[in-house]
Amino acid sequence: MARKIVVTSGKGGVGKTTVSCNLAVQLAERGRRVIVCDLDFGLNNVDVVLGVEHLSLYDVTDAIEGRCRPRQALIRHPKYPTLFALASNRVSERYVSPQAVRLILDCLAPQFDYIIIDSPAGIEDGFHRAAACADEAVLVTTPHLSAMRDADRVAGILKSYRFDRIGLVVNLMRKDLVRKGEVLSSAEISKALGLPLYASIPEEDKFFLDNIHVKSKAYRGLAKLVNEIPLREKRG
Ligand SMILES: Nc1ncnc2c1ncn2[C@@H]1O[C@H](COP(=O)(O)OP(=O)(O)O)[C@@H](O)[C@H]1O
Ligand SMILES: [Mg+2]
Repeated sequence: MARKIVVTSGKGGVGKTTVSCNLAVQLAERGRRVIVCDLDFGLNNVDVVLGVEHLSLYDVTDAIEGRCRPRQALIRHPKYPTLFALASNRVSERYVSPQAVRLILDCLAPQFDYIIIDSPAGIEDGFHRAAACADEAVLVTTPHLSAMRDADRVAGILKSYRFDRIGLVVNLMRKDLVRKGEVLSSAEISKALGLPLYASIPEEDKFFLDNIHVKSKAYRGLAKLVNEIPLREKRG
């Protein structure tokens, strides 16, 4: 049965979609069966970041409204056979209830190991819809003060959801700025937000060329940790 992990943030543009897709690719590299479900309605770009937008026939609302079976709405990645994208609905005005999405994901869950849910930023309806579908959460922030302030609000709300686990990813980290004392370190941010640090992802120039970094040490570490956490909890 798939672990359903929602990837959230307070502020937009901090790297949720990039983190969701890279985590999924790393898990698929380990042979795990993974879906990245795009619930950032209207700004759908999971399929673009994964480079499969041209292969998309259906989206999540087609599955909800019965125009296709849930399995048919999945786009298989041409390079990673165990990786699938579930595109968000392109008609953003249409109301989609959390229960409807949950039904689709619950129907797919038995055949997968992970469903990574890319959520909209903030704490509006779209966030609740995404969070309501998950049993674990990953909060993404950058070390910038404005992002951390918003992350702090979301962290409080995430804690009220009673997820099995919540972890923190600090993205766009710059060690030079930490050394100069201009931003907090990832460990300090983790302490300030009261969430365990899953990964600290450096800011990279090469993101302009490609959003998926298969060789990234930070993303490998994130996937390894996410994959092993339940085992560690059982042991510890
Ligand atoms: N570690 C990183 N280094 C450099 N650029 C990054 C990094 N992570 C994300 N980006 C870039 O930042 C922008 C926003 O990322 P995105 O994942 O779309 O954010 P969100 O989904 O939170 O809105 C994208 O252009 C992406 O390529
Ligand atoms: Mg996004």
